[in-house]
Order: sequence, then C-alpha cells, then structure tokens
Amino acid sequence: MIYSGKAITVTESDGGIAELCFDLKDDSVNKFNALTLNELQEATAAIAARSSIRGVIVTSGKPVFIVGADITEFGTLFGASEDDIAEKILEINRTVFNAFEDLPLPSVAAINGIALGGGFEMALVCDYRVMADTARVGFPETKLGIIPGYGGTTRLPRLIGADNAIEWIASGKEQAADQALKFGAVDAVVSPELLRDAAVSLVKQCVDGKLDYRAKRQEKQAPLKLNAIEATMVFETAKAFVAGQAGPHYPAPVTAIKVMQKAAGMSRDEALREEARGIAKMARTQAAKNLVGLFLGDQLLSKSGKSLAKKGGKVERAAVLGAGIMGGGIAYQSAVKGTPIIMKDIAQAGIDLGLSEAGTLLSRQVERGKMTVAEMTGVLNRIQPSLSYDGFDNVDIVVEAVVENPKVKHAVLAETETKMRSDAILASNTSTISITHLAEPLKRPENFCGMHFFNPVHRMPLVEVIRGEKTAEDAIARTVSYALAMGKKPVVVNDCPGFLVNRILSPYIGAFMGLVRRGVDFVAIDRAMERFGWPMGPAYLCDVVGIDTGVHAGAVMAQGFPDRMKYDFKTCHEVMFENDRLGQKNGRGYYAYEADQKGRPKKIVDESVAALLAPVIEGSETLDDETIVDSMMIPMCLEAVRCFEDGIASSATDIDLALIYGIGFPPFRGGALHYIDDFGIASFVARADELAASAGPLKGAYLPTDKLREMAASGDAFFG
Ligand SMILES: NC(=O)c1ccc[n+]([C@@H]2O[C@H](COP(=O)([O-])OP(=O)(O)OC[C@H]3O[C@@H](n4cnc5c(N)ncnc54)[C@H](O)[C@@H]3O)[C@@H](O)[C@H]2O)c1
Repeated sequence: MIYSGKAITVTESDGGIAELCFDLKDDSVNKFNALTLNELQEATAAIAARSSIRGVIVTSGKPVFIVGADITEFGTLFGASEDDIAEKILEINRTVFNAFEDLPLPSVAAINGIALGGGFEMALVCDYRVMADTARVGFPETKLGIIPGYGGTTRLPRLIGADNAIEWIASGKEQAADQALKFGAVDAVVSPELLRDAAVSLVKQCVDGKLDYRAKRQEKQAPLKLNAIEATMVFETAKAFVAGQAGPHYPAPVTAIKVMQKAAGMSRDEALREEARGIAKMARTQAAKNLVGLFLGDQLLSKSGKSLAKKGGKVERAAVLGAGIMGGGIAYQSAVKGTPIIMKDIAQAGIDLGLSEAGTLLSRQVERGKMTVAEMTGVLNRIQPSLSYDGFDNVDIVVEAVVENPKVKHAVLAETETKMRSDAILASNTSTISITHLAEPLKRPENFCGMHFFNPVHRMPLVEVIRGEKTAEDAIARTVSYALAMGKKPVVVNDCPGFLVNRILSPYIGAFMGLVRRGVDFVAIDRAMERFGWPMGPAYLCDVVGIDTGVHAGAVMAQGFPDRMKYDFKTCHEVMFENDRLGQKNGRGYYAYEADQKGRPKKIVDESVAALLAPVIEGSETLDDETIVDSMMIPMCLEAVRCFEDGIASSATDIDLALIYGIGFPPFRGGALHYIDDFGIASFVARADELAASAGPLKGAYLPTDKLREMAASGDAFFG
C-alpha cells in the first residue's frame, strides 16, 4: 500500500504500476470535497516519492467515476471575495491537479461510470483515458451558473478543439462514450469488465516506450492550434449564438467561451489563471447562488420523495378518469414510464382524443430517433382505453381528471370508490377545489388525496400531492411513489383553495388585471416580465392556460381569499371571456394566433383587443419596467409568504421549487422566497407598502404580513 486515506488508496501491482482508486468512505458516490482534494495531493506526493512506480492508473471503487465537486461546499467558497475565490482555485489547481499531471510518469484514467465536472477534469489531467461504453462524461457547471474551474476550459479545447469544447461546456450536456471517443476526449472505449485491463495495458505501453505520453501531455499544455482568423471565427460566432440561446440572465456559458478565447494563445498555467478569474466572477453572481441553491434544494426534495415512495410501495397498475387534455397526458406519461394504465371516459370522442394525443407525442419521439416503433407500440399497449369500470378492482391508484365541477367530481368520485379495492388510492387532479371538500361523499376519505399535474403533463415536472383533512400518510406516500415513477417531482402540500402553486399564481394574475385596468398596455407588461426572466408574460400565459379556465379558477380563489383575490371591478379577463376570446384553444385571446410553418400556434398582436378592453380601463398609465415588475411580483411573493406562514408546504425550499417546476418561475432568481431575500426583506416590505398606496381595489394583495414586517425589522431571511 502506497497510500491509504478515507477517499483515496494507492496500491502497487506487478511491474511498478500504481493504482490510485477513488472510493469515498460512507458515501454512495465519489466527489471532490475538501477531504478528497487533500488526499489527492498527499497520494500524488506518495507516488512521486516511490521510485519503483513507473506508471499510474486512476480508478473508482464505486459505480460512478467521480460525480464532480461537492456542491454543498460551494457556499463557503463562493462567500469569499472574487480575488480570494480565484486564488483558492488556483492553489488547488497548482497543488493538486497540476501536481498530478506533472508526475514524471504516464497516467491513464479508467472511467467506469459518470465523470462530470471535477470528475471529468481529473480524467483530463491524466495522459490517456479509457472509458466504459456505459459511462458518461461532461461539464454541467454552466447549468449551475459557473464554469469549470479545475482546468476544464483549459485542457478540453486543447484536446478536442475549441469548437467542440465550446459546445460541450456551454451546453452542459453529458456525453456518451461513443461521442467522447469520436471527438477525441477519450482514447479508447471498452466494455466495463475489460476497463481495468485496458487501462493497465495502455499505461504499460507508455512505460515500454510504445506510446509517447510526453508528447500527448504536451498537447493539452500548449497554446491552441488556431491562427488569429480561425480563432475570431470560432469564438465570436459561438459567443453570439450562445448569448442568444442562454439569454442575459445566464452569463456563465458566454463567460466560459470568453475564458477559452482569452486563454487560446496561452500556456497551461496562464490559461488556468484566466479560468480561475472566470469562475470566481461567476461564483459571485446571483444566478450562481440561486442555481446552486436550487440544485441542493432539489436533492433534498428528491431524497424526501424517495423515502416516502419506499414507504408507499410501488404502483403496479393505475387508472385515470377522463381522457381530456389532462387525463390523456397522465395516461401517456404513466405508460411511457412503464406503469400500465386504464384510461376511462364517458364518451368515445374523449377516448379517441386522449389516444390520438398520446400517439402524436410518441410519433414525434420516433421521428426524432428517440424511440423505436416497437417501443412506441409497447407504450400504446400499456394504455387501456375504456368506457366502463372493468379492471378498476385491480389497480393501485385511480387519478380523477374529469371536468372542474365539484358536483360532477363528487358524483364521479363516490361512484369510482365503489369499484376499487379498499386499499387502493383515489386521487383528484383538480386545480382549485378543496380536497377536504371533495372527500365529503367518500366512504374512505383516508385513501383520498390530490394529485395535481400541470399542463402539458409530459413537459411540466411538478406534481402537487395534496393532503386533505382526512388523508392518511400512506395515501400520500403511495401517490408520491406513483409521481416519482412517472418521472415527476412531487411536492407534498396541505389543502387550501388553489393549493400551493395556483394560490400563489392567482394574485399575480390579479396584479396583471389591476395594471390593465389602470391603462398599462398588456403587451408592455408581457415584455417587462419576459425581460425579467419569465418564459412568457402574464397575458400570453393566460392565453395558453385558457381564459375560461382562468375565469373559473379565479372565481374559486375569490371565494377562498376574498380580501385579496376578489375584485369589485370588471376585469379584462371577463371581457375576453364574454367575447369568446378563450386564448390559444380557439385562436384568439389577448393575442390572436395563427399556425406557424410547423403548425404550432404563433401569437400576433391583435389591434381589435384595445377597443374591447376600453370600457374597463380607468386610466392611461405608462409604467417603467421596474414598476411593472414590482407591481406583478410583490403580490405573488407575498402569497408565497402567506403559504409559508400557513404551513401549506413543509419548507421554504419546497415553495420555491414548486414555483420553478410548476409555472416556470425564473430559475436564476431561485423562487419567490429567494427573490424576497435577494431584494432584502426590509426593502421588499417598504416597496410593497409604497405600491399598496397606489393599488386601489387591489391594496390587500400588496400588504405585507405582520410576520414579514417582523422579519424585516430583525434582519431575518428565509434562507441562511
Ligand atoms: N387543463 C389544464 O390546464 C389543467 C391543469 C391542471 C389540472 N386540470 C384539471 O384537470 C381536470 C380535467 O381537466 P381537462 O382540462 O383535462 O378537461 P377536459 O375537458 O379536457 O377533459 C375532461 C374529460 O373528462 C371526461 N369526463 C367527464 N365526466 C366523466 C366521467 N364521469 N367519467 C369519465 N370521464 C368523464 C370528458 O368526457 C372529458 O374527456 C380538471 O379538474 C381541471 O381543473 C386542468
């Protein structure tokens, strides 16, 4: 044994080959935490000190190679000044990664499983890389708002060319073994059981002088082989393209390109200095702070979800009632992820629609080469269309997705319950109606809960699992298990009108209607909110959701929270509804819609809308972007605060994640409660009070809660 630590061991085998093995104790994965970095430095020194060693292979004792840096340690590092972060990262490069790369003997990485971020960087400091055909490599850093920092932007372009490195780093995508081999990021791909032998054989060829590892090493330490014109072409074109794709709120991908461009003519050590400056700059951005927070929050959510799912047990067979927009989507998602499902409707037309919707989604996947025709047939076979309750006595869960009408739902739920096994779960996909109220006619309310999907089901990650007054924890656990099996992100919430996400969305839409009433142009509101980071502005969102759905949901919310969601004026939504402008579904709402070349609805400004709205407009205000944004965001964020105080979700993190996964809250802003923290609670409260003064009938939606005022006074925050 040459070295034995808690994360790394180094052993010597015949012929003077050392094996440096990453195997972090008491953890399921290898990652670069402070301990591992420290041990890598020590292990490298131990190898250097052993004169009998002639080559090194780097392996992993776990199913993964190394998943990357330990993100839980980012908070401490990123809290330092930009200069200090850069200095710290440079020091790690110098003392750990460069020290290993500069060992006077050849090294080969045996990439057995995923090697991401720092894990891939470890592989890149080796002279050669052999990869299992099942493994994946990549740099996901830009998705966290940062760039690779342990030599990724330095070594990768020198190895695979600037254009390919830009694509890999800016996209953050994982790369399969065949791609890695094709681009030259690895030198060989073999089946997993041959991996270690292949690595040993490669390193021995270096030792025997059959392979010139020094020349190979030199390639990734020298300036890039691009002349000035080529460099301008590659980097400038990429910057323009990537900036357009990422948008102004996500500066990391473009920063990575700028770093590679600046460092193109530099040696390794100079290039690493540029890289360290680049990552330090990104680490200090709000986007990085929030995206890293989101990643960690997501890990917590998935951990609690998995532990609930374990208790709840697997759903073997499911059923859905209603084959409409939502029922069809639920059936598709269940079948695609492997759970057979009965799709029941009262009308053959409904069933035909549900099946054709699933068929369209599947055909698209076949066209894109993501699915074979046989797989598509398999998925369709898992959806059993039905006009009767046949087979309901053999399912573990039934999801009700019939029309949003409490009377109809009461009747349907009560009837369905009699057709099911007594231990099976009944769940409603209602978007607004109280779960406790829906449970009233049921004999087994303990087996009933909400399972609220978002439209379109196959695309939106969130599922709210709603606990009614009588819902048993077993029912919640089983429903969470099903949501996870469907590839969704379940968030467990307590019952109230609109549950978590629609309750928080409602005052936002109210604020929109209030601004329109004051004469603010809705196109200007949409533009301001899209610039703020929303995927679509509120008018466009209402058109996509459906004005009728919005009006209906609004009525339920008004009843639930009259102090801030009931309006004593005629709203622009009502005008749209009365004029049969239902949104995208009938081609006209706030905007008009026409099919684009691919047949998808494209919005166009419809000049006739202004005249329709004129009777309900009582002002002619023009507001700047900042005022529009604050006027829209404050009521939404305050409702998130109320949900937090009312215990609707179990944590502030769950609230923020639900908004990001359910309605596309801009991820770089971290969610509503992170947004308040970043605003500064005292400034937020002051701004809310200021806007309340001019909000007229919407005043209630702008008034901070007493607890929030207390937090402002005591300098408290929702996070850390
Ligand atoms: N559309 C959305 O954006 C959205 C989002 C989340 C939740 N929801 C909720 O999902 C539910 C369904 O909404 P949708 O938009 O899919 O409606 P939809 O009108 O598209 O579909 C409803 C379907 O239910 C069928 N149906 C009616 N009574 C039935 C019965 N007794 N048994 C079986 N089927 C019956 C109808 O024939 C129709 O096919 C509603 O509660 C709605 O609030 C909708």
